[in-house]
Amino acid sequence: MLAVHLISFFFSKLQEDPTKKVDRFLHAMRLHDDQLIDISARFQAEMKKGLSAESSAAAAVKMLPTHVRSTPDGSEKGQFLALDLGGSKFKVLQVKVREGMGVRKGGVEMEEKIYPISKELLNGRAPELFDHVSKSLKDFLHVKNISLEKKHPLAFTFSFPCEQTRLDKGLLLSWSKNCRARGLQGKDVVQALREAIDRTGGMDIEVLAMVNDTVATMMTCGFDDQYCDVGLIIGTGTNVCYMEELRHVDLVEGDEGRMCVNTEWGGFGDDGALNDYITEFDQDVDATSINPGKQIFEKMVSGMYLGELVRLVVLKMTKLGQLFDGLVSDALMTKGKITTAHVAAMEEYKNGLKNTRDILVELGLNPSQDDCIAVQHVSTIVSFRSSNLVAAGLAAILTRIKQNRHLRALRITVGVDGTVYKTHPQYPKRLHKVVRRLLPECQVRFVLSDSGSSKGAALVTAVAQRLASRKRQVDETLAPFKLSQEQLQLVKATMRAGLEAGLKNKGPSAVKMLPSYVYHTPDGTEHGKYLALDLGGTNFRAMLVKFKKGLQNNTRLYHKIYTVPLEIMQGTGEELFDHLAQYVSDFLDYMGMKKAHLPAGFTFSFPCEQTAIDTGILVSWTKGFKATDCEGHDVVNLLREAIKRRNEYDLDIVAVVNDTVGTMMSCAYEDPQCEVGLIAGTGSNACYMEELKNIEKIRQKKQKTEGDEETPEAVEDKQDDGSKGDKKAETSETSRMCINTEWGGLGDDGSLDDIITPFDAEVDHNSVNPGKQRFEKLTSGMYLGEIVREVLLDLTRGGLLFRGRVTETLKTPGIFQTKYLSQIESDRLALLQVRSILQHLGLDSTCDDSIIVKEVCGAVSRRAAELCGAGMAAVVDKIRENRGLDHLNVTVGVDGALYKLHPHFSGILQETTRVLAPQCNVTFLPSEEGSGKGAALITAVARQK
Ligand code: BG6
Ligand code: BG6
Ligand code: GLC
Ligand code: GLC
Repeated sequence: MLAVHLISFFFSKLQEDPTKKVDRFLHAMRLHDDQLIDISARFQAEMKKGLSAESSAAAAVKMLPTHVRSTPDGSEKGQFLALDLGGSKFKVLQVKVREGMGVRKGGVEMEEKIYPISKELLNGRAPELFDHVSKSLKDFLHVKNISLEKKHPLAFTFSFPCEQTRLDKGLLLSWSKNCRARGLQGKDVVQALREAIDRTGGMDIEVLAMVNDTVATMMTCGFDDQYCDVGLIIGTGTNVCYMEELRHVDLVEGDEGRMCVNTEWGGFGDDGALNDYITEFDQDVDATSINPGKQIFEKMVSGMYLGELVRLVVLKMTKLGQLFDGLVSDALMTKGKITTAHVAAMEEYKNGLKNTRDILVELGLNPSQDDCIAVQHVSTIVSFRSSNLVAAGLAAILTRIKQNRHLRALRITVGVDGTVYKTHPQYPKRLHKVVRRLLPECQVRFVLSDSGSSKGAALVTAVAQRLASRKRQVDETLAPFKLSQEQLQLVKATMRAGLEAGLKNKGPSAVKMLPSYVYHTPDGTEHGKYLALDLGGTNFRAMLVKFKKGLQNNTRLYHKIYTVPLEIMQGTGEELFDHLAQYVSDFLDYMGMKKAHLPAGFTFSFPCEQTAIDTGILVSWTKGFKATDCEGHDVVNLLREAIKRRNEYDLDIVAVVNDTVGTMMSCAYEDPQCEVGLIAGTGSNACYMEELKNIEKIRQKKQKTEGDEETPEAVEDKQDDGSKGDKKAETSETSRMCINTEWGGLGDDGSLDDIITPFDAEVDHNSVNPGKQRFEKLTSGMYLGEIVREVLLDLTRGGLLFRGRVTETLKTPGIFQTKYLSQIESDRLALLQVRSILQHLGLDSTCDDSIIVKEVCGAVSRRAAELCGAGMAAVVDKIRENRGLDHLNVTVGVDGALYKLHPHFSGILQETTRVLAPQCNVTFLPSEEGSGKGAALITAVARQK
């Protein structure tokens, strides 16, 4: 009975289909659809991690932005060299792309040569590997008779994970597959290639773009199929890229359109996400690889590992006595003896079994028919698992694209390349079938890249070349705004000469150097209630200020702001001053002080020739004002007359003060080291404490009065109309006076012509005061926006911006106010916000346009800040030299919208001053309450005399 049983068991064993035992043995590798759906969902989650800013650093699936923003549109053209490194073959190519023609119409011509790379090079030092690459390139030029004299743009397909910040810059994150050349990880691969090309010498090569093979494949296939938004490689390694919505790519600025993302899906599972699908064979493959723990998904899928997986399975089964009667050969125990080519051969449709037998015999084994069937089946299960896993990954990607685009069904093409896909007889069919089963609602087309990835790389490069030429033209346009240290030193020297010439009083000078009759900064003894009126930019301010002796922190201020309409700024003088008188009336009503007859200080922020603290003859209007019958008149009188005409209230106007002087005084109230005032606002100007003896106008006056045998003190008393002089000036040994430089006029004599650009000339030409205030027109808020607009107009006319369309908006003067420049240049602003500011201004821009506009604003405002810094360096060095000091500590009181609101202006100004005046330690102190408080302080001092 037992014998019968044994015999029947023996027979049943004999008759068992050998594939069954393999099925049982490799149960874990046979993935069902529900498992594939599960894997697909896990991959979707990994993609999200890789895209998000918070989790991307630690993500296993890296989701690398490629800076490729569009698939080919037919406008690409040019002749390119290409290098293709990272697949099973290293190739050098020449690719010619003709505009507007798909491949089938003969739009692309290619010539290529394969150059072998030894294992030693792949495992040696990176510079040597790259030397080999560039020498091969040079050989190719030679062999193909390509001119060594001409400059050649080059596309670089580099099939390893790189973190790209630009198309032509990418840091190698890690090696994968069969390469681990030392010294490149973390470095810029493009730079390494450029250096190698330089080392080789004798070629003029411009490396314009580096692309991953997936991206290049997508581009190759996209040349003929506009639906191709995915690139897939199943070769030595495996990877996929696809067009992602830019708004989901946290690592790249901009929210508009799409960008190709290189998923580097080979790393899926590196964080354990696939642990429950990993078999002992996968673990063995990983453990003996050059990158253990890395590229887990790749090691289950790609050509470099499939043969090895088959070998490990067959070896284990043999050792268990399930194959070859348990007899193991040396070859079977040797890593790498079964390759992907073997796997493909074993699964060939008709000859598969015969091939299997030949392969096994070659491995020193003695296979039975069943052994052959079993090993062939092992091969099938391993390669089937690979295509299933790829299908699961692809399903995740296609689902994501579908959701991104809010579609229920999706029509899409996947461009594919790689030896496994190309040479394995069953692979493509199996893959297509499973993808379609997993995504029945999607119409997926697979297109084999017929000519490798280099064509695609060349297409990317063609776009890069167009962008590079656009960038070059923008850079060229902006070059004159970029001032060298030497130029800035020269500006400082010019300013210094301007200050000296202005002090000399030999006829009119560009820098006017106007005496202010302010001899001292405040000392804290000021007290009382004062009115301050402030006409500076577009606003008029009326203010009531109360000081308490010795209590600098206890100043009280009440104020009201009035906007001066353009027609009043540019109407008659009488109308303008009547308006001011009316604003004052309103303010006194508001404060309930109509009858108070207060002492008042008048901040009047225009150049005035003063002969006393309360007289100021307007030399010329600036900053867009041009009210008639004011120039040459005493503005204090003009205001007094207007008040008289109103016959409603009375004011005692005690002092007229420039805003720079007011600002210096108001800051000096807090910081006694403050001896300079600076305005970087609508206009640009500075004042500082100068030695009386250096001020020719004052000396001449003194000499004249001494000639009349009067003491200078008496003269000053006289000039100051009895009560209004500063008595301290009489007693101080080192008497000083604050000088309003009116530095905005620097260059009016042509001394800045070397740095003035055609855009500045245009702005000057269109201003109300052509030829005047040339320095101010380079540095102040009123003009910066106009300079920007002139540059944008020029770039647009050149077709480099706004699609070449010059709109009415762009032609409108004044659209770029300082506040918009400040917003556009804010580092915290995403490009989309820049774009929305531009759109708000009526400029319909793309994100690329926004980048250029930001760059233009940056160049113009940087120059302004640097020029102000050069001017300030001249001023502080003059003070230092006046006092015979090696080192000067000084504070500059500052006001103005440009200084206060612009994100970079103040920093650049301070840095430039530091560099150009190294012997001065300059502190910039922003004024808290404007220059009105300073005017009130001056009034207080004058009143207390
Ligand atoms: C080729 C590309 O066509 O496909 C290579 O030009 C790429 O850059 C390759 O790496 C992938 O396949 P394999 O099998 O050579 O790794
Ligand atoms: C203010 C002063 O604080 O600053 C004004 O009180 C001055 O008189 C102004 O003109 C400068 O700033 P902006 O940016 O308004 O020209
Ligand atoms: C590896 C590389 C990847 C490449 C792929 C296919 O996975 O890391 O960049 O795309 O191989 O060649
Ligand atoms: C203009 C004026 C000047 C003023 C400056 C800042 O340059 O001429 O007086 O100080 O603007 O407002």
